[in-house]
Amino acid sequence: MREMDIGKAFTFLESGPVTLVTTFDGKKNNIMTISWHMIMDFSPHIAISTGPWNTSFEVMMRTKECVIAVPGVNLIEAVIGIGTVNGDIVDKFDKFSLTSLAAKTVKAPLIKECLKCIECKVIDYVEKHGLVILSGERAWINETAVEQRTFHAVGDGTFIVDGEMMEYRAMMGNRLPPGV
Ligand SMILES: Cc1cc2nc3c(=O)[nH]c(=O)nc-3n(C[C@H](O)[C@H](O)[C@H](O)COP(=O)(O)O)c2cc1C
Repeated sequence: MREMDIGKAFTFLESGPVTLVTTFDGKKNNIMTISWHMIMDFSPHIAISTGPWNTSFEVMMRTKECVIAVPGVNLIEAVIGIGTVNGDIVDKFDKFSLTSLAAKTVKAPLIKECLKCIECKVIDYVEKHGLVILSGERAWINETAVEQRTFHAVGDGTFIVDGEMMEYRAMMGNRLPPGV
C-alpha cells in the first residue's frame, strides 16, 4: 500500500462503501464489517455506528484505535462472513485469508487485500446514539488491486456495486478543498 495525503481520505468513504474495521486488543487482530458510517468533515472526522454487542467495540473503546479499510467487490463474501461471526471465536484474518500489514500510528492493522485504509483514533463516543467518533490520522491506497469497484449495503441482504462515475468537478469548484 502507498501512503497518501490524509486530507484526501474523506473521499475513501464519502461514496458510502461497505467497510471493514480492524482492531488489536494487545494480543490479536480482529475485523468487523461496518456499513453505518459517515464522513463528518474534510479532516477527516468519521462517525461509525456500533455498540457493545461486538467484540471490536470493546477493544476500540479500550485502545482508542482502529483502522477503516475499504474492500473491493471481489471480497464481498469475506466481508459478509466477517460481519456474521464473532472475533472471540474465530481468527478472521486466518479464516478469510486476509493479510495484516503494520500501520504507522496505530496498532490495529491495515488489510493488504483492501483498496484503501485509514488509520484512526477514537476521539469520542456518543453512547445515547451508539456513535463512535474517529479522527483519521494516516491514509493508504492500494493502486495495484485489479478490482477497484467497491460495494454498498442496501440493508436487507442485497448490495449495490459501483457503476458509472460522473465528473462534476468544475461545477463543484468552490465547495472542494484545495488539492482534492
Ligand atoms: C454487511 C454488514 C454490515 C454491517 N454493518 C454494521 C454496522 O454498521 N455496525 C455494527 O455494529 N455492526 C455491523 N455489522 C455486524 C458486525 O460486523 C458483526 O456483529 C460482527 O460479527 C462483529 O464482529 P466482532 O464481534 O468480532 O467485533 C454488519 C454486518 C454485515 C454483514
